[in-house]
Amino acid sequence: MAEETGRGREVVLETDRLRLRPWRVDEAAIQREMWTQRDPRVPPHRRIDTDGHPTLAEFEDAIRANQPTSVGLLAVERKIVGDAIGYCGLVDSGHGAHEPELAFEFLRRVWGNGYATEASWAVLDWAITSGYERLWASVWDWNTASRRVLAKVGFIETDREEAPYGTNLVTTRTL
Ligand SMILES: CC(C)(COP(=O)(O)OP(=O)(O)OC[C@H]1O[C@@H](n2cnc3c(N)ncnc32)[C@H](O)[C@@H]1OP(=O)(O)O)[C@@H](O)C(=O)NCCC(=O)NCCS
Repeated sequence: MAEETGRGREVVLETDRLRLRPWRVDEAAIQREMWTQRDPRVPPHRRIDTDGHPTLAEFEDAIRANQPTSVGLLAVERKIVGDAIGYCGLVDSGHGAHEPELAFEFLRRVWGNGYATEASWAVLDWAITSGYERLWASVWDWNTASRRVLAKVGFIETDREEAPYGTNLVTTRTL
């Protein structure tokens, strides 16, 4: 269920266990922790570098810069615990404004509980009510868990691309 709050385009989505809403500045450490946990096969520019960048302050600045109008990547909070455990949402796919890309990432300690699947369903519902026609998702061929989540919510592989850091599977879902 999507709810427009009083802060312009700020969106809050609810599922049985989860609340998807904008990131808060004091949650920057959660974002950085996810970066530190990334698989070594993830391209270097998406991991913490040897100098420690992005730093906590840089994550904080990015959250500040995105508020209050950024509705693309929502923090996922467990309703019972009240803690942010990852993100799920829509980003630019490069295929036009009506066909964004689904993206998600969660802290390792919560993997395997169905959270990515549950959050993705909420974002799909939101995408439908927002009038989007199709979603894209690209995933490394080695990323079994992500491929499984995408399959569970109805994405179909349409292409594969050889990229500098491996084979990227291109998947789509018609809404
Ligand atoms: C991908 C990711 C978001 C999944 O989060 P999650 O909350 O654990 O996902 P879910 O519990 O909803 O579903 C995971 C599914 O993958 C399966 N899975 C997980 N690891 C697996 C593995 N190594 N081999 C086979 N299946 C695997 C699980 O069994 C589950 O499927 P099932 O419900 O049929 O049993 C999480 O692993 C993550 O944050 N990864 C790093 C970031 C990332 O890869 N993001 C996506 C980029 S495209």
